[in-house]
Amino acid sequence: MPFNLRNRSLLNMQDFSPRDIRFLIDLAAELKRAKYAGNEIPRLTGKNIALIFEKTSTRTRCAFEVAVHDQGGHVTNIDSAGSQLGRKESLRDTARVLGRLYDGIEYRGFHQTTVEELAQFSHVPVWNGLTDEFHPTQVLADLLTMEEFGQKPLSELSFCYLGDARFNMGNSLLVGGVQMGMDVRIAAPRARWPHDELVAQMLALAETTGARVTLDEDPFVSVDGVDFVYTDVWVSMGEPLDVWGERIELLRPYQVNAALMKATGKPRARFMHCLPAYHTVETEIGQQIHEKYGLSELEVTDDVFESDASIVFSQAENRMHTIKAVLVATLG
Ligand code: CP
Ligand code: NVA
Repeated sequence: MPFNLRNRSLLNMQDFSPRDIRFLIDLAAELKRAKYAGNEIPRLTGKNIALIFEKTSTRTRCAFEVAVHDQGGHVTNIDSAGSQLGRKESLRDTARVLGRLYDGIEYRGFHQTTVEELAQFSHVPVWNGLTDEFHPTQVLADLLTMEEFGQKPLSELSFCYLGDARFNMGNSLLVGGVQMGMDVRIAAPRARWPHDELVAQMLALAETTGARVTLDEDPFVSVDGVDFVYTDVWVSMGEPLDVWGERIELLRPYQVNAALMKATGKPRARFMHCLPAYHTVETEIGQQIHEKYGLSELEVTDDVFESDASIVFSQAENRMHTIKAVLVATLG
C-alpha cells in the first residue's frame, strides 16, 4: 500500500486527505473486482469488530457485516437496547471496555462529539457510521459510484445536492466533493444551508483542491449542467416528527422530479440518494405524511426514483465495497 492508513479512525471526511480518499476509492474498486472474480484475499482474519447502532440502519449495518465476513473477521452487533451504554455505563467506560476486546468499532448515533469521545477512549480505530453532523462512509461510496458512472476523474465531474443541506449528508457531500476537487452545488433555502463556518472552511479548501462551490436557493439554476442530482430525506433520524410540516413547506420546491432532471440539460444526468427514500406511500412514515399533508412522494418522485437515470442501488452496493476498503486499510 502506498499510504499507510493503519490504526486511523474515520470520524469525518476531513480525517483523510484527498490522497487518502483517492487511495480508498481505488482500493474499494480493487476489492470489488476481486469479489466479482471470486479471488478475494481475506485480510481481516482473526479481527473482531463491534458495530454500535443507536439509530436504525439497513445499508450501513449490512455493509459492515458483509465486508467483515468477506474478509474473514467477526462482528458483534450492539443496538440501543442491547448494552449498558448510556443507561448504566458512561460512553467513556464502555469505550475503554470495547477497546480491550475489539480491534475496531463502528458507531452510529446522534452527536459527532460521541464518536470522537469513543475514538479518544477506546484507542482502537473508530468509524463513523452516521451522526447528525456527518456520514463519511456514505460519501466514500458516492464518490466511487460517481466515478464509475461519470467515467471521468472526479475533478471533472459535478453534482448538485438539493433539500436539507444542514444535516449529515449535505455537510459530508460538501466536504467530500471539495476534497476531490469537484464542481459542488448546493440548492436549498438559506435556512437549510450548511453552517457558515463549514462553508467558509470549504471555500478556503477549494482554493487548494481546485473545487468549485456554489450555494443557491434556486434549484433550477443550481442543477444546470450537472452530472449528478443528489437528494436525501427532508427530516432525518432523530429529528422530531413535528418538524415535517415546516420542512415540507420549505423544501417542496427542491423535490427531484422529471422537470428538475430535465433542467440539468444533460440527458445522461444521474439521480442519487443515500436511501432510505420517501418516493411512495409504502412505508409507515410515508403513509402518515400522506394522511396528514396529502403528499405521496416527498424528496423524489417515484418516476425519477425508478427511472434509468437512478443509480441509487449501485450506491447502496458500493457502501459495502468502500467500507471494506476502510476496514482493510485501517486494520488489515
Ligand atoms: N444510507 C444509509 O446509511 O442507510 P442505512 O440508514 O440503511 O444504514
Ligand atoms: N439524513 C439521513 C441519512 C440516512 C442515511 C438521516 O440521518 O436519517
